[in-house]
Amino acid sequence: MTFPLSDPPFIVIEGLDGAGTTTQTRRVAEMLRDRGQPTVTSCEPSRGPVGTLIRQMLSLRITVPDLKGGHRPVGRETLALLFAADRLDHLEAEVEPTLAAGKAAISDRYYHSSLVYQGEGEGEDVDYEWVRTLNERARRPDLTVFLEAPVELCLQRMAHRGSRDIYESRSSLQRLHRRYQQVMNLLAAEGENILRLDAALPKEEITEAIVAKISGLP
Ligand code: TMP
Repeated sequence: MTFPLSDPPFIVIEGLDGAGTTTQTRRVAEMLRDRGQPTVTSCEPSRGPVGTLIRQMLSLRITVPDLKGGHRPVGRETLALLFAADRLDHLEAEVEPTLAAGKAAISDRYYHSSLVYQGEGEGEDVDYEWVRTLNERARRPDLTVFLEAPVELCLQRMAHRGSRDIYESRSSLQRLHRRYQQVMNLLAAEGENILRLDAALPKEEITEAIVAKISGLP
């Protein structure tokens, strides 16, 4: 299999919790391998030391002592810094070696998630720009797949899972849904190669569409 422009490509799959990014990361990698293209998958938060810490924080297994003798969750800005650190570690430890070995790299989430989840706050634009600055050194993917999922679908899918992290309530998902649209529009306007797909489509169709796009990059 040859890839017209970037050979091998770095692909990112993005979307709300429950949109199916993990399933599609696995399925697309399997299909590429079946077609003779060695492919390695990874995810963010990564499996490295910072990523492992972040996962514990998101599930609220780690909280910070407060001055009143209680505990509080880790702050949003601290998380933004940790995600950015994990991203560079993930690139160095997993993505770059994969590409250098001539294999395609697919990441389940990337800086888009930081721009969406950590890039909003009291001063929305300020936070977006700040999070962008933190992620300046993270290379652009050759293709970003955005799985657009209605909030109801995400909630249904998450109801089947055991655990919910701090971002998984209905009102959070509604806000994040709007943020995803804004962020993807901004990145597309800058020329980022973004494939938008309806996450409610059958998973087989989504995989086919992604692989078709990858094979015909850009
Ligand atoms: P997941 O493993 O189910 O994709 O969950 C990871 C969670 O981490 C998800 O709620 C999104 C969140 N996240 C951020 O808030 N910022 C980031 O930069 C990344 C990569 C993930």
